[in-house]
Amino acid sequence: MLADVVRLLRCPTCGGALHLSPGSLRCNENHTFDIARQGYANLLGGAAHGSADTAAMVQAREGFLAAGHYAPMADLVAAAAGHGDGAVIEIGAGTAYYLAAVLDARPRSVGLALDISVPAARRAARAHARVGAVVADAWSTLPVVDGCAEVVLVVFAPRGAAEIARVLRPGGRLVVLTPAPQHLTELVDVLGLLGVDDRKSERLHAALDPAFDVVDEVALSRTMQLTAADVGRLAAMGPSAFHTSADDLRRRAAGLPEVVEVTAAVTVTTFRRR
Ligand SMILES: C[S@@+](CC[C@H](N)C(=O)[O-])C[C@H]1O[C@@H](n2cnc3c(N)ncnc32)[C@H](O)[C@@H]1O
Ligand SMILES: [Zn+2]
Repeated sequence: MLADVVRLLRCPTCGGALHLSPGSLRCNENHTFDIARQGYANLLGGAAHGSADTAAMVQAREGFLAAGHYAPMADLVAAAAGHGDGAVIEIGAGTAYYLAAVLDARPRSVGLALDISVPAARRAARAHARVGAVVADAWSTLPVVDGCAEVVLVVFAPRGAAEIARVLRPGGRLVVLTPAPQHLTELVDVLGLLGVDDRKSERLHAALDPAFDVVDEVALSRTMQLTAADVGRLAAMGPSAFHTSADDLRRRAAGLPEVVEVTAAVTVTTFRRR
């Protein structure tokens, strides 16, 4: 619930502390942000831009993740996050699937789900009893208090190194999950999915190395048995959905066998804030 995480939030307009008042968050300067009926608050102060997941993408993601194909990744992220009591923030949280898994392993932590997508925040707000969801842009100043987080998670999502360093307390952990080059490789051509950039890992380290030390890096590769429906959701939930129409994806998926073996290959890197 938002009440659990208000102490982590600051006003996007003046940077002052935010307080919970009925139906809204408010700072001492009286900047006021409505709490939506579904329990999230929008601290974006503008329209969500092009990279926000749409309602259809969020729905596809929720369906795909519910089938458990990425559960081993969530276990890995939870193990990397550790068992402390401090607050956990997920940036680009989507449905907050990974944040919920981390909170299950940390019974005294609260979690803040940040995403630029309103449909994602709506879903994240009910991902877990101890999650509060806020609409915010990972590329701008986060509406988050300095040094309040013990753990930041970034899973298949954008990350701004300077703001992550600011909100993490010294010694805090940043857990980043990125796709490896083999990720979903069997589907890239047939569905026209976007391939993984080979230099992703290099870029990740270049951006984060100035403020962070790498403490651990774990690779996970496994074969998933996906039904045609799973494949449809997988295609519809990812960034390729921005470039390919649902009809086009359906037409391409129709050529696949009933059950397809697909590689999931990711790297989970744990950094420590200096
Ligand atoms: C590929 S999804 C991953 C979601 C979630 N971490 C997961 O793996 O299930 C990327 C997410 O990042 C969000 N996103 C894109 N641009 C963003 C930005 N500038 N700031 C915050 N979130 C952003 C999208 O709305 C989407 O929910
Ligand atoms: Zn204010």
